[in-house]
Amino acid sequence: MKYGYFDQSTREYVIDRIDVPVSWTNYIGVKDMCGVFNHTAGGYLFYKSPEFHRITRFRPNGVPMDRPGHYVYVRDDDTGDYWTLSWQPVGKSLDKAKYVCRHGLSYIKYQCEYSGIWGQQTLFIPLDDPVEIWDVLLRNDSGKRRRLSVFSYSEFSFHHIQIDNQNFQMSLYAAGSSYKDGIIEHDLFYEATGYQYFTSDITNDDASYFDCLRDVFIGQYRTETNPIAVESGACSGSFELGGNHCGVIRRVVELEPGAETRLIFLLGEGDRDAGKKIRSKYCTSGFPEVDTAFKNLSNFWKDKIEKLQINTPHEGMNTMINTWTLYQAEINVIFSRFASFIEVGGRTGLGYRDTSQDAMMVPHSNPEKSRSRIVELLKGLTSDGYGIHLFSPEWFEKRTAPAFKSPTVVPLPPKSNRVHGIKDACADDALWLIPSIVEYIRETGDFSFAEEKYSYADTFDPEGNEGLIETVFDHMKRILDFSAREIGPHGICKGLRADWNDCLNLGGGESAMVSFLHHWALVHFCALGKRLGKDVSKYEEMTVKVRESCEHELWNGSWYTRGFTSSGRGIGTPASKEGKVHMESNTWAVLSGAASHEHGITAMDAVDKYLYTKYGLKLCDPAFSEPDDEVGFVTRVYKGLKENAAIFSHPNPWAWAAETMLGRGDRAMKFYDSLCPYNQNDQIEVRKAEPYMYCQFVAGPDHTAFGRAHHPFMTGSAGWSYFAATRFMLGIRPDFDSLVVDPCVPEGWPSFTVRRVWRNAVYNITVENPNKVSKGVKECKVNGQSVKCGKAGAEIPVQSKGSENQVTVVMG
Ligand code: GLC
Repeated sequence: MKYGYFDQSTREYVIDRIDVPVSWTNYIGVKDMCGVFNHTAGGYLFYKSPEFHRITRFRPNGVPMDRPGHYVYVRDDDTGDYWTLSWQPVGKSLDKAKYVCRHGLSYIKYQCEYSGIWGQQTLFIPLDDPVEIWDVLLRNDSGKRRRLSVFSYSEFSFHHIQIDNQNFQMSLYAAGSSYKDGIIEHDLFYEATGYQYFTSDITNDDASYFDCLRDVFIGQYRTETNPIAVESGACSGSFELGGNHCGVIRRVVELEPGAETRLIFLLGEGDRDAGKKIRSKYCTSGFPEVDTAFKNLSNFWKDKIEKLQINTPHEGMNTMINTWTLYQAEINVIFSRFASFIEVGGRTGLGYRDTSQDAMMVPHSNPEKSRSRIVELLKGLTSDGYGIHLFSPEWFEKRTAPAFKSPTVVPLPPKSNRVHGIKDACADDALWLIPSIVEYIRETGDFSFAEEKYSYADTFDPEGNEGLIETVFDHMKRILDFSAREIGPHGICKGLRADWNDCLNLGGGESAMVSFLHHWALVHFCALGKRLGKDVSKYEEMTVKVRESCEHELWNGSWYTRGFTSSGRGIGTPASKEGKVHMESNTWAVLSGAASHEHGITAMDAVDKYLYTKYGLKLCDPAFSEPDDEVGFVTRVYKGLKENAAIFSHPNPWAWAAETMLGRGDRAMKFYDSLCPYNQNDQIEVRKAEPYMYCQFVAGPDHTAFGRAHHPFMTGSAGWSYFAATRFMLGIRPDFDSLVVDPCVPEGWPSFTVRRVWRNAVYNITVENPNKVSKGVKECKVNGQSVKCGKAGAEIPVQSKGSENQVTVVMG
C-alpha cells in the first residue's frame, strides 16, 4: 500500500493519500528557530532550545494524535461550512476533500481542494530571521463568487516543557497576551525577554479579527476540530494577563471565479517592535522578500546537495543519497537528537556518542557545524579521557551569571552533576570522536586543527578558571590511553556503564565492540599522527596489542564473541542459549581492520545466516526471552523490539561497509536493499513510518508487527547509511592528500558516476565496470593523465581550487 511518491524534480516527498497510519514528520529551520511538524500541520516550534524555549505547545503521544499545530482554517461565509488547509484538525471526509502534503527540504506545503477552493499553506523559516512564515494561497475554482474567512491558529507554550506540564498555579499566571497595531504579543512575565509575536500582512483592529486566548477561540467542550470562533465566523478580540494564549488572526477574503489571493502570517521570536520590523520587511506588495527568503533556503540546500551527487543503476540509492539520507544526516547534526515527536524536548543537550558519530557524516556539506560539534565534544571530554555522556555545551563555555534567573534560563548544574565519574561513563563514547576529527581533517585539509587548544570538562570552571588546556592531538591521546587502561581480565576493554548498545550492560564486564572501536580509532590516529610528522610508535604498538587481544580472546571459531560479563561468562558465543550472534562484534571486527580476512568472511557469513531478514539485519539472534541482569536491560525488552533482536537500523550500515572491506559488493547491496526505506514505499501497511527516512528500529521477526518501523529522523542510521554507501560502497573517500576511489558494488553494475566537490575543486568521476567485478581498480585517469592505482583503489591528487576535473576509473 502506497501513500505517496518521491518527486525528483522538486526533491519533495509528496503524500497524496493523507490518512497515513502514523505521523510522517519533517523539520523546518536550520539555525536558531526550528519546528517539527507532521503531514497534517501538527507539531511545535522552538527557539534554540526545545526544552527551555518552546514557542508553541504540543501534546505528545496523545489522542487525537499530534495536536495542536499551526493551522489555517477556511470558512465559507455564505454557508458556514469550514475546513483546514491541512487535513487535520477539522478532518473533512476524504470523499469530498483532496489533501496533499509536500515535505521538502526545510519546508512543508499543505495543499487542499475542497468545495471549489484550492488552498496551500507553506511553512518555512528564513535562514537569517527567527520567524516562521505561513505563506497561504487561495484560489477560487468554483465558478462563482466566494466570501471566505481565514483564521490562523497556534497555541503558545510557557517556554519550558516542564512548566508547560506541571505547577499550573504558577505558570497560568505568568504568561500574558495583548493585541495592538495588528500584532499579537505573547509575554512570559518571569523572563527578561520572553516574547513572541503573531501577525499578518493586513491589520484590522476590530475585535472580530483576533483572539489571543485559546479557550475563547476554541470554546468550552470543544477542540481544534470545531473552534467556536470558526464555527460562528468571528473572533472575540480576547486577550488577558494570565491564562493560555494563541495566535489567531482572522482575514476576510472575497474571491471572484478564477481569482487567487496570497496571505502571509508571521510567528516570530521577539516583542511587538520586533514583529513590526519583520512585518515591514516581509509584507511588502507582492511579498518579494518572502519569495527571496524561500529561494535562499532552497539555495542553502542546493549548495549542500551539490557537494556529492551520484548516478548509479540503483534508483532508490540515487534518491536516498542525493537527497533524503543527506538531509536526514544534516538534520541530526543541526538539531542533535532531542526534538521530535518521540523525544519531545524534555531531554536536551548532546549525547556524546551520538553527536561524535553525527559529526563524522557531513564534513563535506556542513564543515562548520561538524567542526563546532567536534569542538563542543572536545570540551566535554574529561582529562581522564572519557566523555560526559550527556551534556549541554553551555556548561563548558565561559559565562557570566544572568541578571535575572527565570525558570527558563538554561541552568548550570553544580559541578558534581555536570561531570560524572568513570562508573557512569560509556566506554565507547569518546572513541567515536577520533575518527570524526580525522575525517574532518581529511575532508577539509585543515591540519592545523590538530594543534588547536581546548579545555577539559573536569578542570573547567564556567565562571572562573579554564583549567587544563591541551591540543586536539593531546585530547585524542587521552582518549586512547583511557581505553588502553580500562581493560578487564581478558585484556578486552571494559564496557563500563554500557557501550554503543545502551541496553547491553554486560554487568560491568568487557566489550568486544569497545576494543574493536579502540582499534579503529588507533588506526585513524596513527595515520594522522604520521601525516603530521609526530612520533606515534607508542600507539602503533598499542594497535598491535589490541588486535592480538581481539583475535585471541574474541574469535570463538564461528564468529566474534560480543563480550564477557563481570563473572567471565561469554556473551554471543556458540554456547550461548540466547543472544548467540551479535551485529556489533562481527561488523566491527571487520570494519575496524582488526579481523583477519578469513575470520572476517566467516563472521560476516554468520551475520547473513543468523541476522538477515527481508527488512534489514537484526541486532542479535536469538532474542533474549529471560531477564538476565548480568547481561543487561536488553533481556527485559520484549522480543523483536529495540535492542532485543529488532532490526536496529544504525548498525546495518556497519555491515554494508564490512562487506565492502571483504570485497563482497552483492552482499553489501543485499543488506542495503533490505533496510532501504525507499524500497518500502509501497509496503506502508507493514512499514507504517515515512519511506523517506531511516527509523531507529524496525520490529524483528520475533514480534507480531515484524517490519513496522519506529522513531524516524533522529537516528544515527542516517549518517551511517550515508557514510557507508558513499565511502565504502561507492568508495569515494577523501584522504589527507588524495581523493581515493575504491568502489565495491554489485557485479552487475556496468558503470556509475559521482560528482564530488572536495577542497574547492569538482571531480566528475565515471566508474566503468566492463569485467563485471565487485571490487578492484585497474586504471584511473584524471583529465587524461594516469594516476596511482593499487589495492586500496585509485588515488587522485588534490587538484587546484576552482578546477573542474574529469576522472575515469576502470574496475577490474
Ligand atoms: C539509541 C541511542 C544510542 C545508542 C542506541 C543503541 O539510538 O541514542 O546512543 O547507541 O540507542 O542502544
